Amino acid sequence: MLFGGLPYLLLFLSTALSLVHGPPPARRLLTTLGLAAVAAGWILATYTLPTGRRSRQPYGTVRTAVYFAGLLALSAALMARDQVFMLFAATGFLQALVLLPTVWALVSVAATSFVVNTVPDGFPRPTTGAVVGYLAAIAFQTVVIGWINLLSSRLNEQHQRRKRTVAELRSALTENAGLHAQLITQAREAGVLDERQRMAGEIHDTLAQGLAGIIRQLEAAEHAEGDRQMWRRHLVAAKDLARDSLAEARRSVQALRPEQLESRTLPDALESLVEGWSQEREPKVAFATNGTAIPLHAELEATLYRVAQEALANIAKHARASKVGITLSYMEDVVVLDVLDDGVGFDPVAAEAEAGTSGGHGLGLVAMRRRLGRVAGTLDIESARGEGTAISAAVPAIPQEAGA
Ligand SMILES: Nc1ncnc2c1ncn2[C@@H]1O[C@H](COP(=O)(O)OP(=O)(O)OP(=O)(O)O)[C@@H](O)[C@H]1O
Ligand SMILES: [Mg+2]
Repeated sequence: MLFGGLPYLLLFLSTALSLVHGPPPARRLLTTLGLAAVAAGWILATYTLPTGRRSRQPYGTVRTAVYFAGLLALSAALMARDQVFMLFAATGFLQALVLLPTVWALVSVAATSFVVNTVPDGFPRPTTGAVVGYLAAIAFQTVVIGWINLLSSRLNEQHQRRKRTVAELRSALTENAGLHAQLITQAREAGVLDERQRMAGEIHDTLAQGLAGIIRQLEAAEHAEGDRQMWRRHLVAAKDLARDSLAEARRSVQALRPEQLESRTLPDALESLVEGWSQEREPKVAFATNGTAIPLHAELEATLYRVAQEALANIAKHARASKVGITLSYMEDVVVLDVLDDGVGFDPVAAEAEAGTSGGHGLGLVAMRRRLGRVAGTLDIESARGEGTAISAAVPAIPQEAGA
């Protein structure tokens, strides 16, 4: 707006100064005012109306050149009447480099300089000194004004570019903040999901197994109603199971390791698990440890213990095996738990794909795999109908933290 109003402002100022300057004859004054009005009309018709609000944008070299030519001719005519219109002629200096490509702009500045230097005093006397001085003045003016204008338009460009960069940066920051919020939400959801899966695994391995065992004992007690001793034994076993399950459930909620590992090494805890299992049912389980047993990170020992528990529970429930063997092998980088049986076997891929489809049943293998996944371990199940089952769980051999 300011830039588009510049020619009018300079015209107005020059006209006002000219009027104040001194009282010329009235006719002369009217001609000057008439010329100033023509100049204003010219600016309006060839510059203001065609460019509209985009007064700083070039709107075609030829059209701008026409505007400048008219402007220059009118400035010359006005300056011929009163030198003070030199101020108006300076419009050419100020607008040229912004509205025209550089070369044209310099031509325009040179033309303005020519008018400004020639109109007031006419052409120089034909002596070498006067001509050289006259030309040097025009050249000097053109170069200096051209250079200042060029510099200011560069600065303006830089300013615009910086403004664009800041705007881009700001929008990138806003976008970033959005992404950040999204990430936090996702992380929280992932955390909730992770904890839910952990709890599902714990419920499966402690509460559900415990309750299944209690039901088994109570059913056995029912059948043994005639045999008072047997009946009592089953009831006591059910009570013990209930107490143990309750304790285990409490520990699960606090994410503590299984009670059985509190005071025993992993091989000892597995040994006692196997003993307990074999006391209740056939067949006897063979247990062996390979390599040098070292205390592992608590989470790893808990994982292997739970895997062994579920594998044995599955054998009891599904395998109808005549031989069962468990091996715990300590190797350099990994510790592997193998559970083998010669029972009916199954299709492991199908079993895992159907996990949880029948009323929350069939989650044991999936929970096993998730548990191992959480400690960077792997689960390998080999089985086929009629060919027994081999379950192999491997965890990285990370020793127990010092002082833990
Ligand atoms: N050692 C095994 N021998 C034969 N079949 C097995 C054995 N282990 C698992 N299966 C089969 O794989 C299925 C899935 O086992 P998974 O432990 O996931 O579920 P589940 O034991 O049926 O139920 P849950 O463990 O949730 O109480 C079992 O239903 C069973 O058919
Ligand atoms: Mg199971």
